[in-house]
Amino acid sequence: MKSMRMIVWLLGVILVLLACTDTSTPESLKPEDKPVVVKEEEPVRIGFSMDTLQEERWLKDRELFKKAVEGLGAEVEIVAANGDDALQISQAETLIQSGIDLLVIVPHNAAATAAIVHKAHLAGIQVIAYDRLVKNAELDMYISFDNEQVGKMQAEAIAELVPKGNYVFIGGAITDNNAHLLKEGVFKVLQPYIERGDIHVVYDQWTKDWTPANAQANMDEAIRTTNGQIDAVIAANDATAGGAIQALQNHGLANRIPVAGQDADLAGVQRIVAGSQTMTVYKPIHMLTQKVAEIAVAMAKGETVTFHEQVNNGKKEVPSVLLPPIAVNRDNLESTVINDGFHTAEEVYGKGGE
Ligand code: BGC
Repeated sequence: MKSMRMIVWLLGVILVLLACTDTSTPESLKPEDKPVVVKEEEPVRIGFSMDTLQEERWLKDRELFKKAVEGLGAEVEIVAANGDDALQISQAETLIQSGIDLLVIVPHNAAATAAIVHKAHLAGIQVIAYDRLVKNAELDMYISFDNEQVGKMQAEAIAELVPKGNYVFIGGAITDNNAHLLKEGVFKVLQPYIERGDIHVVYDQWTKDWTPANAQANMDEAIRTTNGQIDAVIAANDATAGGAIQALQNHGLANRIPVAGQDADLAGVQRIVAGSQTMTVYKPIHMLTQKVAEIAVAMAKGETVTFHEQVNNGKKEVPSVLLPPIAVNRDNLESTVINDGFHTAEEVYGKGGE
């Protein structure tokens, strides 16, 4: 009896299962039964071609730009060329061929990278110059800090401390348009002092690839050719300032001569605390990465972008956004660099944060 009930129960289960099994193929579905396929919009893909990751700032640029782009629901492919023009061009070509929607470029060489802009345009891809201008190209947009203002801030700070004396100018890389803009800013401020005969620029050189080693060699030469008769040093960034200060140190001149730099690199602000560097120019990188990400994604989507400035790159007036830099010395380190979280107090002042 028990087994009979079991067989009936089993038959029932089998019948229910059969009834539930839909044997019809998807093709047999009437159109109105077909599931609605929502076509997902492909995320915008941005290519980011960087010159180098050598200075500390570019690591921040890379990390913060990725975050900013992804925060806008887009994707970014990042490559860096170690200061090699040919490599930067071939990396950019690869990005272009991979089907990116827009290219953002930090050129190693302002002139050589015009070829990249041309190639991107042939593929229907717009190009934004990031931080550094691409010269003589049909560039679509340029977003940076006001680099001439960076130079002015350096010269104003140093001229206030040393209104008369022998100045050394350790420039940036001649291939980088920012190095030229910065120099223009420095000399606009120094010019009246020079004309009055108060300031003598006793040494003025570019620094190949902005490296500390080349800057140190320049500073060594400046010390040698002037017999150490130097009253102030303006270096184009903190990396070159570091090289220059090393040379001053080797000649027993460090901490006695005001030195200006740029970037608010950790080593730079630590030197400000220690007294071997006088000032730096802080450029809040997060503002740059956010601005570029927003504009890049909008342009890639074909949206209209507003801009208030134009910069001539030798070929056209390039629509531009120039963000304001901030002069930093020992007195406002706390309220700027540290307050923004660019570096922590502990990093700057050592353990204990003071
Ligand atoms: C940037 C600086 C940087 C330098 C060296 C310039 O174009 O504006 O912030 O220190 O390149 O990488």
